[in-house]
Amino acid sequence: MTSPVRVIVVGAGCRGEIYSHYASIHPERVEVVGVADPRKFARTKLQQQHKIEDENIFEDWHNMVEREKFADAVLICTPDRLHKEPAMAFAKKGYHVLLEKPMATTAEDCSAIVEACTLSGVMLSVGHVLRYDPLIHKIKVNLIDAGVIGDVIHIQHLEPVGFYHFAHSFVRGSWRNEAESSFALLAKSCHDIDLIHHWAGARRCVKVSSFGSLSHFTKINKPTGAADRCLDCSVERDCPYSARKIYVDRVKQGHTGWPVSVICPNSFPDIESVTEALRNGPYGRCVYDCDNDVCSNQVVNMEFEGGVTAAFSMVAFTEEICQRKTTISGSKGELSYNGHEIRVFDFLTETATKHVAHINAPKHFGMSGHGGADYHLMDAFISAVANNDPSLIRSGPGETLQSHLLVFEAERSRLEGRVVYPGDTSHS
Ligand SMILES: NC(=O)c1ccc[n+]([C@@H]2O[C@H](COP(=O)([O-])OP(=O)(O)OC[C@H]3O[C@@H](n4cnc5c(N)ncnc54)[C@H](O)[C@@H]3O)[C@@H](O)[C@H]2O)c1
Repeated sequence: MTSPVRVIVVGAGCRGEIYSHYASIHPERVEVVGVADPRKFARTKLQQQHKIEDENIFEDWHNMVEREKFADAVLICTPDRLHKEPAMAFAKKGYHVLLEKPMATTAEDCSAIVEACTLSGVMLSVGHVLRYDPLIHKIKVNLIDAGVIGDVIHIQHLEPVGFYHFAHSFVRGSWRNEAESSFALLAKSCHDIDLIHHWAGARRCVKVSSFGSLSHFTKINKPTGAADRCLDCSVERDCPYSARKIYVDRVKQGHTGWPVSVICPNSFPDIESVTEALRNGPYGRCVYDCDNDVCSNQVVNMEFEGGVTAAFSMVAFTEEICQRKTTISGSKGELSYNGHEIRVFDFLTETATKHVAHINAPKHFGMSGHGGADYHLMDAFISAVANNDPSLIRSGPGETLQSHLLVFEAERSRLEGRVVYPGDTSHS
């Protein structure tokens, strides 16, 4: 029997904890041997869960990377603006890297990370978890590549963020302000642009245009009589985004997982800690009075080499939370995906076939995030490291860098109000 892959975790927040949990499910395959996080609560929690030696606990990743290499791979799960430096430093030290998306917040930094990993000869897997969703994987491998819908002609893809999810993460939370994290298309939709690029056969995008803005969650829409904080607000009962409704009502019903868990970063959530967080922390603020500036709705139109077109929409104001909806029009059939199943209508026989996929992720271990895709991403990364086989990674440096660069070009189009021709200097 081979020994388990040893991993260290940089950033023991939500994502770091989720990926690390794989080691609790498969201790014979992975061992978490170190953690770096400035939050004592977060690093102690991970230390206890994985019985990590005291000497391998760090407040900051700089001290960790200076130590002689003591693991095979690193999971980098720090906030968006803290990806590049640790990714490059650990790659140079010879660690294989699982890097959360977005890779980095500028195109140059994304390219620099890929270059550092390539030069160091280490594997890089980016947290594009949807690539590992069995149903989404089936769309590409079993349906598009197998020729079932013929040539891909057009892709229509919707990302419904969800009204309270958007208020939580993109109005009050960590991804609300571009200068502190990144723009919404990168933070939220780099997954989707990556899928579209992948389904379009990873062809080069030749034209891209984008429009979008921040709607509704602005000071001008603050209702008359509303307070700065929901706990003090007399009109909060009529507000769908009330923090009392989103957090207090949930914890009263015994729900202490996301999003409630996020608002108490230094303790376990209960009525007392949640109330305290809403009284003093960012999540108790009126959604019409925050320092948010990221888009709540954005569209991107793309044309790929060979004439394949794609239309993407991201919108905050939806009932569904992140259940993507896709239609792929092919020369022989139409494929539609609603987040639960795939339906293919064949133009020759004029019949429809439904396709499902089995999720093998063990739900009782809490690894069901993103429909089990988090589990499958970690499974693939560990297999790649254990077998020294980068082909097992679906979100490797090549296509991932290309789709990230496309996100930056789309945002450039939105900001400059014009069609962008990626890679064509005669139009820039
Ligand atoms: N793949 C996905 O679908 C997905 C989903 C959510 C978030 N993310 C991305 O994952 C990353 C982490 O998100 P999260 O939700 O876990 O955030 P989080 O805030 O829960 O966790 C981030 C952690 O990093 C720690 N940290 C900050 N500075 C550090 C440093 N110098 N050294 C070590 N640790 C440090 C913080 O204390 C915190 O515990 C972000 O880039 C986010 O965009 C990806």
